[in-house]
Amino acid sequence: MVDRPHRPMALASTPGFPPQAQVTISDDNSTVKAVLPTGESVQVRLYGATVSSWKTATGKDNLWMSEAAVLDGSKAIRGGIPVVFPVFGTAPDKESVAKLPQHGFARISRWEFLGKSTSEGSSSNVKLDFGLSSENLDDNLKSLWPYKFGLLYSVALDPDSLKTTLVVTNQGDEPFEFQTLFHTYFNISDISAINIAGLEDSDYLDKVDSLKTKHQDSSITITSEMDRVYEPPKKSEVPVVISEDGEPRFEIVRDNLDQVVVWNPWTETAAKMADFAPNEGYKNMVCVEPGSLKPWQKLEKGDAFEAAQTIKLV
Ligand code: BG6
Repeated sequence: MVDRPHRPMALASTPGFPPQAQVTISDDNSTVKAVLPTGESVQVRLYGATVSSWKTATGKDNLWMSEAAVLDGSKAIRGGIPVVFPVFGTAPDKESVAKLPQHGFARISRWEFLGKSTSEGSSSNVKLDFGLSSENLDDNLKSLWPYKFGLLYSVALDPDSLKTTLVVTNQGDEPFEFQTLFHTYFNISDISAINIAGLEDSDYLDKVDSLKTKHQDSSITITSEMDRVYEPPKKSEVPVVISEDGEPRFEIVRDNLDQVVVWNPWTETAAKMADFAPNEGYKNMVCVEPGSLKPWQKLEKGDAFEAAQTIKLV
């Protein structure tokens, strides 16, 4: 094909204005998709406001999605970026959340798409906003967590980064407490070639060794099942960097998220999950999950909490 320097843009644009991101909603009203003029794309399922795909212009997905992920809204989606709220795992000893399902209800509730925007003066990015409030919860979940809340979740795509931001507001009279976390499944070529830096000098809770507290001296490599809650030194500005074969691939910058969970189920635990496929898929994923788990965040009437992760491709 002859390369014409002034060939027409594939995306719609108003004469005189640079092309904008295209945002579409699937026919079955399940998924919002945004494509940048430069070709990068993101897809968000309204079920859970789960980012289910984030592709580079070449079509490579930065996120891992199980081939057996349940996408009919009957189960949390196994892959992408599920949003954990208001409890991480389960907390049977904490009365206000004791009866909630694992990782809470945000990832299993249908959110509303609130609209798109772009940064002022730029056409090379797009932000998609989603909302979930007490009114959207099904009756069972409403009875299990009877607080009046609002969640605003923004997914902002740039050519070389994805930022997810969660704003939690207390819209009722009663204070409530919560945990939250972005459960990001990164798509990697080979778990044995991975190195995770930025959590050195952190204590961590080892969930696969009787919840013992241990200390991370050096960067992380994964050679067996790993399920750890890292507690990086406070006020640390150090990003978490996932490298493959010594080459940095993802840089995760946390804002107001004090803990980082690192999870890989490895062979046996992966085999026990009906929605995890293929069996060998654990070699191609690693979850690095920035969260606010400790202390529990408490919001008084009218108060708000905001936190974000920015994942840069490096
Ligand atoms: C991680 C937890 O965040 O999520 C693990 O630390 C858990 O303990 C994993 O197994 C997956 O959870 P789920 O509910 O999606 O199977």
